[in-house]
Amino acid sequence: MTSLPAGGFAAPKGIPEYVGPDFVAVRDTLVREADRAGYAHLELPVFEDTALYARGVGESTDVVSKEMYSFADRGGRSVTLRPEGTAGVVRSVIEHGMDRGTLPVKLRYAGPFFRYERPQAGRYRQLQQVGVEAIGVDDPALDAEVLAVADAGFRALGLTGYRLELTSLGDAETRPAYRAELQRFLEKCDLDDATRERARINPLRVLDDKRPEVREQLADAPLMVDHLSDAAAAHHAKVTQYLDQLGVAYTENPRMVRGLDYYTKTTFEFVHDGLGSQSGIGGGGRYDGLMAELGGQSLSGVGFGIGVDRTLLACRAEGLEVAPARRVEVFGVGLGEAAKDHLVGLVGQLRRAGIRSDLAYGGRGLKGAMKAADRSGARYALVLGDRDLEAGTIQLKDLRDGSQTEVALPDAAAAVDRALHG
Ligand code: HAM
Repeated sequence: MTSLPAGGFAAPKGIPEYVGPDFVAVRDTLVREADRAGYAHLELPVFEDTALYARGVGESTDVVSKEMYSFADRGGRSVTLRPEGTAGVVRSVIEHGMDRGTLPVKLRYAGPFFRYERPQAGRYRQLQQVGVEAIGVDDPALDAEVLAVADAGFRALGLTGYRLELTSLGDAETRPAYRAELQRFLEKCDLDDATRERARINPLRVLDDKRPEVREQLADAPLMVDHLSDAAAAHHAKVTQYLDQLGVAYTENPRMVRGLDYYTKTTFEFVHDGLGSQSGIGGGGRYDGLMAELGGQSLSGVGFGIGVDRTLLACRAEGLEVAPARRVEVFGVGLGEAAKDHLVGLVGQLRRAGIRSDLAYGGRGLKGAMKAADRSGARYALVLGDRDLEAGTIQLKDLRDGSQTEVALPDAAAAVDRALHG
């Protein structure tokens, strides 16, 4: 715990803050892969009607029953800070009639989401996602596309220590029968009251129990993949065929349990081994019933949400440099008032020419100013003293090897450009 000055503030608990280029570089790399596959940007509201999430995500999920930031607004409406993006995207598609145009509707989004979870490394109350949704067509090639876009994002960052786990949760035709069979199996197990209750409300979730004494009893539990309808099995076979074709590696995990209720057929998670217990760097799947559940046509959709926070942690765990450390390329050091005045204009000129530049502010001495130049990551310093100014020259100093070249003041911008770009 850091102590605060009296009367000081701290950010709310469980909210990471990012300074510098790394976070943006990770987010934008993931977004770029979605753009390459033709997903259009959708800027979603940060809060929505509470009922949208209750109905869309599922009342029995932890996300809805325990983790939502819900409050009454000044008009007395119950609103909730978005815990995830899929329900909002589907709401927007229905509301604006996007599903009446060409299908599928392909959208992507990025930004903060909010879940009142117990904060720990990689688990935050304000989490950042990049997501895509492809809505309106039930085509296994789209499932594969969504998976390939996520995979390409991770690869573009240079990540190698992750794997894609995949399963099928079946469809409305056979899931009820499977659910009943699993419930019958669980009734015969020796479970505590809370787990029995979970088995009654959402038996699939019991399969995710991590306790050894429960795991042991579940070794022979019936699995959804063995109860797929012919259509769901054919869909799954096609998805894996396309993934092979696209060179996206995966492992089947028939015991996967997701925290949201809307999934049908293809369901997946990207898992990174360098992150400890919060190892899911992304997840998603197909949702056959969600659009109708939210009052729209009966159309299917498929998408993913990638956790940007965890993806950045994964990059750090693999020692990847995701963004250049260089904040600026050139740093101006003016010694004396007149020199500083001149540099203010020169730095402005450099910036207009597209060269990232900064200068020493606050009338520091040469030593302090050179330290600031080093810290900025700049490749060159432009050092201007009173004597230079009288002579109409400026010193262009290479901060890597310390060498210095004198250039005529009117040529300074051109000299910097030549030095940087050859
Ligand atoms: P989700 O699995 O709940 O899915 O979240 C997606 C990703 O967000 C996770 O894999 C994880 O990387 C990140 N994440 C979730 N909670 C936290 C947290 N508390 N702290 C840090 N990172 C977190 C969804 O949200 C679905 N809407 C994905 C989707 C899109 N399914 C279909 N379309």
